[in-house]
This record gives sequence, structure tokens and C-alpha cells, in this order.
Amino acid sequence: MISQKMQEALNDQMKWEFYSEFLYLAMAGYFKARSLDGFANWMTIQTQEEHAHAMMFFAYIADAGGRPDVRAFDQMENEYDSVTDVFRKTVEHEKLVTMRINDLMDLAVEEKDHATAQFLAWFVKEQVEEVASPQKILDQLELVKEDGNALMMLDRELSQRVFNPPSVAT
Ligand code: FEO
Repeated sequence: MISQKMQEALNDQMKWEFYSEFLYLAMAGYFKARSLDGFANWMTIQTQEEHAHAMMFFAYIADAGGRPDVRAFDQMENEYDSVTDVFRKTVEHEKLVTMRINDLMDLAVEEKDHATAQFLAWFVKEQVEEVASPQKILDQLELVKEDGNALMMLDRELSQRVFNPPSVAT
């Protein structure tokens, strides 16, 4: 059974994961409007991953004897200066999520809540990839400086991304 404090913190993180889902969908919309379908595909896959993350919190809170509490969030920022700007904001967002997951892990350790710590361990590892993956694209974008040909090549590459549901997702 999770503590009240842990239930609150996990529900708050579930909200952030749903927020991430819609943030990336908004970014996919930006790319779609610019006919960058490969970039849009990459972001759409990202939304699917975030939905899976949110549902993992939903299932865990219930399994741990708590109540999943789905909460509304504010409108996300949806104005971007450039393709590079979108990925800069993606990396910033994922770094923030990583800090939040680490704080949750600190709370689980503090409360000697081993089950929650084990649940969160998957997210600690996942966040390494969640930052590294858009960071790599950002590095490439900064290198090519929005050159049209390079953008089209990258767009083709990103169109190849497919969704692989996390094996622990429900
Ligand atoms: Fe669910 Fe992108 O972290």
C-alpha cells in the first residue's frame, strides 16, 4: 500500500506524462503544417510512448492500493521558431521529466517503499534514452543550421521510426 504522499506524487507524475503526450502531439501538428511528415511521425511515436508511460502510472497506482486520479493540465506552449527550436524544447522538457522521476525515486527511498522504487527504476533508465534520443537530433539540426536539403534527408530518416510498446506497459 502506497502512502498518501506517494499516491499524490505518482498521480502528479501521471499528469505530467499525459501532458508530455499532448505536448508532443502539438509539436507533431507544427511539423504536419510545414509538410515535414517524417518529423511529425517521430513526434507522433513520442506521443504513443508518453501515453504508455502515463498508463503505467495509472496501473501501478491502482495495483499499489491507491486511486489513479486523472487531472487536467494547462495549455502547453505551441509556438516554435524553427525545427531546431522544437527539439531544443523537447530536450529541455525531458530533462525536467528526468528531475521529476529522480525526485520520485528519492521519495520512495526515503519512505523505504521498495515496490515503488522498483517500479520507478524502469523510468530512471528510460529517461536516459528519452533525453539522448532528441539530443542527437538536436545536435544534427544545429550542425546543418536548417539547410533545406539536410532537413529533407533528416525528415526521411525520422519517417522510419516505429512504435515499440514498452514491454512492461499495460
Ligand atoms: Fe515519459 Fe518522455 O518521458
